[in-house]
Amino acid sequence: MNYRHAFHAGNFADCMKHALLVWLVRALQRKPAPISVLDTHAGAGAYDLSAGPAERTGEWRGGIGRLLDDPPPALGDYVGLVRQLGLYPGSPALIRGLLRPDDRLACCELHPEDHTALRRRFAGDPAVAVHRRDAWEALGALLPPQPRRGLVLLDPPYEAPDELDRLAAGLSTGWARFRTGVFAAWYPIKHRAPVRAFFATMQQSGIRDLVAAELLLREPLDPTRLNGCGMLVINPPYRFDAETPPILAALLDRLGAREPGEGAEMIRLVDE
Ligand SMILES: C[S@@+](CC[C@H](N)C(=O)[O-])C[C@H]1O[C@@H](n2cnc3c(N)ncnc32)[C@H](O)[C@@H]1O
Repeated sequence: MNYRHAFHAGNFADCMKHALLVWLVRALQRKPAPISVLDTHAGAGAYDLSAGPAERTGEWRGGIGRLLDDPPPALGDYVGLVRQLGLYPGSPALIRGLLRPDDRLACCELHPEDHTALRRRFAGDPAVAVHRRDAWEALGALLPPQPRRGLVLLDPPYEAPDELDRLAAGLSTGWARFRTGVFAAWYPIKHRAPVRAFFATMQQSGIRDLVAAELLLREPLDPTRLNGCGMLVINPPYRFDAETPPILAALLDRLGAREPGEGAEMIRLVDE
C-alpha cells in the first residue's frame, strides 16, 4: 500500500468526486428518514494543502485552488463546505459535515497512519464508526447498514492493475446485500479501454439503474496521465441526471485548459 491521498488532495479529480458526493448526500436527505453512509476507502479525513505532500505536488492549485475565491453557483454548496470545514476535507469530513442528528457514517481505511488520523478525528463521535478493515470485505460485512437507507462511496487508489475488476466485483457484492442503496464509485480515466471493459462488466452484472458521470480534461490518449475521471452511480437519486451536468460543466469551465477532447458526459449504462 504505497498510495497516500495527501499528495492528490484537492486536485481536479477530488473536486469532481467531492462535488458529486455532496450532491448525493443532500439528495438522500430530501426525505426526513435517517441515512447511513459507508465510505469504503476513507483516507485520512482532512489535508493541509499548504504543507507536506499536497504542497509538494501542488495538484490542488489546479483544483480547489481555482474554485475557492469565486465558486460558480453550481459548486457553491461543495465549496462552501470546504471553506467551513477548514483543512481540505476528504470524503469522511465532507460527509460528517452534512450528517443530521440521526444519520450515521462508517469509514474503512487500511493504511495505518491514515487510519490513526481518521480515528483521532472522530474520537468520541457517536455518529461515526472508523474501521481498520479491508473495503472489499466490508461490503459483505457492513451491508445492509442500519438505518437501511443511504449511500456507499467506493474510492479505491487504483494501485493494482485489476482494481476496476475488483470494483465491479465489490459493487456486485454490495448491491446483492443492499439493493436499495445508492452506490457511488469513483474511477480514473487514463485511456478508454479499461473503462469500456468495466462498463461492459457492469452491464452484464444484473444490476439495474446504472449511470456514469464523466469529466475529461483532454482526449484520453496518454495512459500515463490522469486525463479525466468518472463516478458510476447505482440507484441515482431523483434528478441526478438533470442536476449533475451543470456541476460537471462548472468544473470543466474552471478546471479545464480548453485542451482538445475535453468534455463532460452522462452515460446511462442500464435503465431502471
Ligand atoms: C483515493 S484514497 C481515498 C480518498 C477519500 N475517499 C477522499 O475522498 O478523501 C484511497 C484510500 O484507500 C485506502 N485503501 C487502499 N486499499 C484499501 C482497502 N483494501 N481497504 C480499505 N482502504 C484501502 C488507501 O490507504 C487510501 O487512503
